[in-house]
Amino acid sequence: MAIPCVELSNKMKMPALGLGTWQAPPEKVEEVVKFAIDSGYRHFDCAYFYQNENEIGNAVKQKIKEGVVKREDLFIVTKAGEELHPKDDKGMSIPSDTDFLDTWEAMEELVDCGLVKAIGISNFNHEQIERLLNKPGLKHKPVMNQIECHPYLTQEKLIKYCKSKGIAVTAYSPLGSPNRPWAKPGEPVLLEDPKIKEIAVRHHKSPAQVLIRFLIQRDLIVIPKSDKPQRVQENMKVFDFELSKKEMDVILSFNRNWRAVPVLPAVNHKDYPFKAEY
Ligand SMILES: NC(=O)c1ccc[n+]([C@@H]2O[C@H](COP(=O)([O-])OP(=O)(O)OC[C@H]3O[C@@H](n4cnc5c(N)ncnc54)[C@H](OP(=O)(O)O)[C@@H]3O)[C@@H](O)[C@H]2O)c1
Repeated sequence: MAIPCVELSNKMKMPALGLGTWQAPPEKVEEVVKFAIDSGYRHFDCAYFYQNENEIGNAVKQKIKEGVVKREDLFIVTKAGEELHPKDDKGMSIPSDTDFLDTWEAMEELVDCGLVKAIGISNFNHEQIERLLNKPGLKHKPVMNQIECHPYLTQEKLIKYCKSKGIAVTAYSPLGSPNRPWAKPGEPVLLEDPKIKEIAVRHHKSPAQVLIRFLIQRDLIVIPKSDKPQRVQENMKVFDFELSKKEMDVILSFNRNWRAVPVLPAVNHKDYPFKAEY
């Protein structure tokens, strides 16, 4: 089944489900991406910081060469970054004093010279978005804000705000990022939530499929990561069932404003985004 697309404000179509690639080891990711393309994935969420973009590029090149896909069929997201998060001896990020409005201008040039088709933001709170939208001489509006979102961090206010500005939202860590390196014992494990499991049993689906479907039904774009072929396939089988309004409301009520990815080493950065309410 083809994955449905969402139309962005620049009229580009983006598949509502993509494959996350953070922590996909370089020695595995090439095969996984090839498998995902064969299975029907057309959207890949990447970053220079994930240190596996060369291998992902090789997989894409191979599948184009085989005639399985054309480059224009694929929506490939990447994120700007120069250095791999330089840190001081206490493990805290060494802050950059770059103004994100200047970074945005540089990104606008990438659109103007045809190197990228669309530009967006990630982890911006509504005050930062407002500042960007009010930038004098803004040439290209952000089409997307990629933020953490799942039943324990439902992000209702920020999503409503983004939508009111025509900005689509991608939900990252949709399964609660169970393999995040900084996980501590006692922290909530979304995939093990008994109420999610109960809903999954009712629909003959897995907890992961319920978590992904919950976000799809909120008109979000979702990017679960797996480097296991079976799960890559499982995670895309979310377009053949529907959660009821009551189930959606119940899952929304699980919100506890809990972040899997609080980016604590950057907590003192001038642009640390998670201190604002939304
Ligand atoms: N913009 C940002 O700041 C930002 C931050 C974080 C993440 N992201 C993006 O969002 C993507 C997804 O977030 P995430 O990687 O943090 O976490 P996630 O997608 O919530 O969870 C991924 C984890 O769940 C496991 N998993 C996947 N499918 C499963 C299934 N069907 N059943 C059970 N376990 C399953 C995976 O293990 P296996 O791989 O072993 O299957 C992996 O450890 C990232 O890969 C990245 O592309 C962006």
